[in-house]
Amino acid sequence: MLVIFLISALISNSIFGVRGDIYGFSFGVACPESPVISDFDANKYVGKWYEIERIPMIFERGLECVTAEYNLLEDGSISVKNSGVKKNGKKSSVDGIASLPNPETQPNMFYVDFRNKGKHSERKNEANYHIWATDYENYSLVYSCNVYAGFIKFEAAWILAREKKLNEEIITELKEKLTEKGVHIEKLKPVSQHC
Ligand SMILES: *[C@@H]1O[C@H](CO)[C@@H](O)[C@H](O)[C@H]1NC(C)=O
Repeated sequence: MLVIFLISALISNSIFGVRGDIYGFSFGVACPESPVISDFDANKYVGKWYEIERIPMIFERGLECVTAEYNLLEDGSISVKNSGVKKNGKKSSVDGIASLPNPETQPNMFYVDFRNKGKHSERKNEANYHIWATDYENYSLVYSCNVYAGFIKFEAAWILAREKKLNEEIITELKEKLTEKGVHIEKLKPVSQHC
């Protein structure tokens, strides 16, 4: 169902000339390779992050003042709480859990799961939250990509910061990293942190 909806939406989008891109979905057969940060330190990464820019997502539609809070759990996984404010002013939040499918080789590539309200599910999954760059103290660049049915590409990217604002120079550098990998940075939209 979702696939049929997406195909028709993408085709009509192409016909109407709107870049062929809806909420991170577009026609595409491959995802860029994410950089490995071999000395990635989850201990330094946890804590609160503010969303500065993002590729608009269905599940974050209209959400402003979005924050993500990560906490290290005893078993080495990380609890995730994403919060935001909807257009009608109501707060909204979702709990998830993050784990590392390949801790030895890809310590910066997490699988974040929101289906079980913060509890682990049994299914083995591929990483969907790839940290492309972070200095732990100021910024983080997160990327996610998947190809469905061989030709429908889903792509998400978030620029996060420890504070509600991030230096424009850093934003530009992070966008350059996306551009180098072929991600269209026009898709990223600023997220208000004034609610
Ligand atoms: C974060 O930014 C501040 C202010 O620009 C800077 O002093 C600090 O060194 C940065 N942190 C890291 C880890 O680079």
